[in-house]
Amino acid sequence: MERKPIAVILLAAGAGTRMKSKTPKVMHTLAGGSMLQHALDAAEGLKPEKLVAVVKFERDMIAEHILAHNPNVIIADQSEVPGTGAAVESGLDKLGNFDGTVVVSYGDVPLLTTELLQELIDFHEKENSSATVLTSVIDDPTGYGRIMRENDGSVSRIVEHKDATEAQRAVNEVNSGINVFDAQSLKQALEKIGTDNSQGEKYLTDVLEVLKDEGKHVAAFIGEDHWQTEGANDRLQLATLSLEFNKRILEQHMKAGVTIIDPNSTFIDKTVVIGQDVTIYPGTQLYGKTSIADDACIGPDTTLTDMEIGEGAVIIRTHGSESVIEAGASTGPFTYIRPKTHLKSGGRIGGYVETKNSVIGENSKVPHLSYVGDATIGDNTNIGAGAITANYDGVNKNKTTIGSNVKTGSGSIFVAPVTLEDNAYTGAGAVIKSDVPQGALAVSDFKQRNIDGWVEKKAPKKGNH
Ligand code: UD1
Ligand code: CA
Repeated sequence: MERKPIAVILLAAGAGTRMKSKTPKVMHTLAGGSMLQHALDAAEGLKPEKLVAVVKFERDMIAEHILAHNPNVIIADQSEVPGTGAAVESGLDKLGNFDGTVVVSYGDVPLLTTELLQELIDFHEKENSSATVLTSVIDDPTGYGRIMRENDGSVSRIVEHKDATEAQRAVNEVNSGINVFDAQSLKQALEKIGTDNSQGEKYLTDVLEVLKDEGKHVAAFIGEDHWQTEGANDRLQLATLSLEFNKRILEQHMKAGVTIIDPNSTFIDKTVVIGQDVTIYPGTQLYGKTSIADDACIGPDTTLTDMEIGEGAVIIRTHGSESVIEAGASTGPFTYIRPKTHLKSGGRIGGYVETKNSVIGENSKVPHLSYVGDATIGDNTNIGAGAITANYDGVNKNKTTIGSNVKTGSGSIFVAPVTLEDNAYTGAGAVIKSDVPQGALAVSDFKQRNIDGWVEKKAPKKGNH
């Protein structure tokens, strides 16, 4: 079969008032991307010759959002005429004398896949039709355009809910809004359409009737998976689609060899990459560009954003972002990993530890109750409980450098900038203000004094106020 070139027109000009939001509807997010990004992904998957996005409401903000995602998208401004037909016409203007297949899709159908769009195009080409509409059969068709078919099953036209009679409203095959057209047929049919309807809009759906009247073939393709054509008009629908999207993402991971103990409390963005035999415990959220290598264990109650987790790492009750945890390393429970932490293989960041902008070397451990910021720690070093890198002097952030095979006593404070060379030790409670040379023990003891009998004589007594 000879394949015609493809252009996509994505409609994103609507206001989306039912979101009740300062943010335009198509920029609301789910599964790690805006509705518009997901819609663009599906369209881009077709490898179209041209991809046009039609904008109007919050035009600059949306255009910028689109171009940040894909600078090759052509932005078209919708004319003053309202309606989906007018929007498509504005998109067509940007296609010049493009001759081929035009796919019209929406910016607010986030679950739509490239696969379904491709099936629709294949059907359109097989049927040799001038227009093919993607439809779905649903229990409650309220609000949607209804598909009117001839006795032979071909499509005669679409009637909008607001313009439909009671009998027409009983039809439950509805217009998804996603269509495939022959470019030239679409262009000349749009020229013949007016705005004589209850909404005073130029309807894209009216194109079908025009083409039909010209004796051209108009087809409908029933999509089995209604979720893929469902739009989100308000936040209730957004939440419903978001849950369904998440369920689909989790299913893909499980089929690829990831154990997810509780899919109901696990949320994973579309952009996350997970290896085989990873186990994810309840209450885990994986966001953004996070990647998890084989055999790692994540959770319970863990939130990772843009994190890279190495093979076999164990991440328990951890809140982490923009950091690297290498193979065989572990974190948690109750650990806060801030950006630019790099824990090398076999290392450990333990309970009630916060880290930021620090490298912690191979097999080195910060096991308990510590803050490590702007520090470099070598290999096989053990940082005693309650260590603090005092990195901030109120004006500048200063660096702490700790070598390999270092052992610091509990409660050490490193007043940066300061360096501890390899094999250095510090005593418990040491306040380290100057560099510690190789192999030295640094102590900053104050002399302990015991006052005999003080408790009997001076301590406050219960019931003796
Ligand atoms: C449209 C269809 C209807 C279909 C429904 C599916 C028409 C006339 N009606 O109805 O048959 O069942 O979608 O959801 O096509 N848009 C613009 N410019 C405009 C108007 C809309 O770009 O002037 C965009 C919106 O941003 C949105 C899409 O087109 O992405 C659909 O607009 P919307 O107003 O939601 O369509 P409906 O009137 O619900
Ligand atoms: Ca409308």
